[in-house]
Amino acid sequence: MKKDLIIHEAPKSPVSEAIRTLRTSITYKMTKNHDKVFLITSSSIEEGKSWVVSNLAIAFTQSKQKVLIIDADLRKGRQANIFSLDNSYGLANILDNSKITIDNPNLDEELKKVIFKTQIDNLFVIPSGLFPSKPSELLENKQFDIILEKLKSEFDIILFDAPPINIVTDSMILCNKADSVIVVCAIGKTKRESIVETKKKIISMGGSILGVVINKMPIDKLKEYTKDYTKYNNNKIIKIDNSKLKNIS
Ligand SMILES: Nc1ncnc2c1ncn2[C@@H]1O[C@H](COP(=O)(O)OP(=O)(O)O)[C@@H](O)[C@H]1O
Ligand SMILES: [Mg+2]
Repeated sequence: MKKDLIIHEAPKSPVSEAIRTLRTSITYKMTKNHDKVFLITSSSIEEGKSWVVSNLAIAFTQSKQKVLIIDADLRKGRQANIFSLDNSYGLANILDNSKITIDNPNLDEELKKVIFKTQIDNLFVIPSGLFPSKPSELLENKQFDIILEKLKSEFDIILFDAPPINIVTDSMILCNKADSVIVVCAIGKTKRESIVETKKKIISMGGSILGVVINKMPIDKLKEYTKDYTKYNNNKIIKIDNSKLKNIS
């Protein structure tokens, strides 16, 4: 496993504590609205989507949930790498598999081929698979809805790791497959206009935004940024900083 998994490597660290705070916020929403499927996206690259997904997933297993990560970043998915899994067969393949039909009695068998157990108890991953030439088209295939229905009955929580929504259309397609969308911003990188654009795109697809994760935040900037981001996004703000637990405002 990679160094990314701080909540596994250093469960008592302040960052891990912040991830558990994020888990608490999501759990509240899950219980209230019976939500189960969450899309984690952001405006641009390297804001921490994959990092948040993998750590959050582990946090949920620590509260006894059975968790599935679906790596829906069919362009640069790195969940297989994070969990040291083979990425040669994954979501891209199952979405292209003509045996995925509602009435196929062997649907479970086909699905099992792409669900990989990780070293973390109760955590499973569907890797992206080898990067296809037309990722957006694949995500629109009807196979996606068929497998998602099935997976919802088998897992307590499903997290989609997705590509950046302002750059490619894929996350927009994923918006209405998820019950709720979580937007990751990276301090010093994500521009305010980009967040506004991201919010517009999610809403235009009928997506429901749960909140914003402010990632990579230096502790001394917390107050200042919270004010600004609240102004641009009427949602709850969840902060992940690298030094101290800060709660939601
Ligand atoms: N809160 C964090 N603390 C430390 N490193 C982080 C954090 N968030 C992201 N990273 C690192 O930043 C890089 C980009 O993160 P990644 O999750 O791959 O971004 P994205 O999926 O948005 O492209 C990775 O090397 C990751 O390990
Ligand atoms: Mg990523």
